[in-house]
Amino acid sequence: MAQQRLGIIMNGVTGRMGMNQHLIRSIVAIRAQGGVALKNGDRVMPDPILVGRNAAKVEQLAKAHGITRWTTDLNAALRNKDDTLFFDAATTKLRAKLLRRAIAAGKDIYCEKPVAENLKDAVAVAQAAKKAGIRHGVVQDKLFLPGLLKLKTLIDAGFFGRILAVRGEFGYWVFEGDWQPAQRPSWNYRKKDGGGIILDMLCHWRYVLDNLFGEVKSVSCLGVTHIPKRWDENDKPYKADVDDAAYATFQLAGGAIAHINSSWCTRVRRDDLVTFHVDGTHGSAVAGLQKCWSQALVNTPRPVWNPDVPQPINFFATWSEVPDSANYDNGFKAEWEMFIRHLYEGAPFKWTLIEGAKGVQLAEAGLRSWKERRWIDIPPLKV
Ligand SMILES: NC(=O)c1ccc[n+]([C@@H]2O[C@H](COP(=O)([O-])OP(=O)(O)OC[C@H]3O[C@@H](n4cnc5c(N)ncnc54)[C@H](O)[C@@H]3O)[C@@H](O)[C@H]2O)c1
Repeated sequence: MAQQRLGIIMNGVTGRMGMNQHLIRSIVAIRAQGGVALKNGDRVMPDPILVGRNAAKVEQLAKAHGITRWTTDLNAALRNKDDTLFFDAATTKLRAKLLRRAIAAGKDIYCEKPVAENLKDAVAVAQAAKKAGIRHGVVQDKLFLPGLLKLKTLIDAGFFGRILAVRGEFGYWVFEGDWQPAQRPSWNYRKKDGGGIILDMLCHWRYVLDNLFGEVKSVSCLGVTHIPKRWDENDKPYKADVDDAAYATFQLAGGAIAHINSSWCTRVRRDDLVTFHVDGTHGSAVAGLQKCWSQALVNTPRPVWNPDVPQPINFFATWSEVPDSANYDNGFKAEWEMFIRHLYEGAPFKWTLIEGAKGVQLAEAGLRSWKERRWIDIPPLKV
């Protein structure tokens, strides 16, 4: 049994996602468990070098997590032949350019979504990766959430019969930043910085819908800026000039209809911050991040419309929770491990830059639908 070293250049790890999900919950956790086990008994140990603009911040982050290598010099990091994988979780705006630089330096790529701000750049990055013959992967974390894994089990078991419709509710109140700090970075609300909920969330909805319910064939999307003024990290007011909510309907291959509301301007009264309600001829289910509840046709209550009496049925009590059937790991970590196995033993890995580009394709189509006030078809993506 041998240990192999994977040198990873990790960019954008002082940010929210980079630090919490990718560094701490994924790479540091994989190191703590002794690496990723391969089929032949070998283990792959990630050896990251953290890259950031602020030396003090990166050094402190590295030290706090027992990581010895850090730098502010991305070019030098890319020149090091011993670090073969480039990872990026910095702002969306910079991503496509950074990926192109890393591909030109011969690195394999793993990165956050969206892979680019527009489809042209997303396809160009995927083409460059293909030409260079490197391996690549994109974060599609929602697929590895326990709630969605349980939903997938129900689909695979034929629980739903014919799936008719999917209703997704994503969102929560993101504070404006005046009397209490916002929970999201201010660039999310500025067009010039790559912000906007359509670009952010439709990338997720593409892989969720494609992988669980049927390929997205067309979209009708209405975006809106509900809150035009917010306060940034330095308590300064700024103009929020992008969509902070999107109301989108999707037609899927196979005939199911999906409608997903995405909003940073809604107050939660539902099971989780995101829920997917699936209705089929034989049963229905509601999945959140961790849990999933189902109701079969034979267990479906029989409501009768009568506004004159208080509702006699406690609807929430008529659903059964789908039990845990595995030890669910953090979804980001699970995908990192799959990607590492793909690098070292050629294990199948579907979620490439091409899949990432499909997410951008849907986001761009959503923006266009909003602008042109019409349905937009989603053609097969050629790379
Ligand atoms: N998979 C998911 O569920 C998910 C969730 C949220 C965000 N994201 C994606 O992750 C990325 C980061 O989002 P976040 O919420 O962590 O943002 P963030 O603002 O918290 O972090 C951004 C990071 O980029 C760095 N950065 C910003 N400008 C830079 C510049 N000019 N040069 C170099 N570095 C720069 C920052 O220092 C920070 O490390 C985005 O692309 C976003 O779409 C994914």
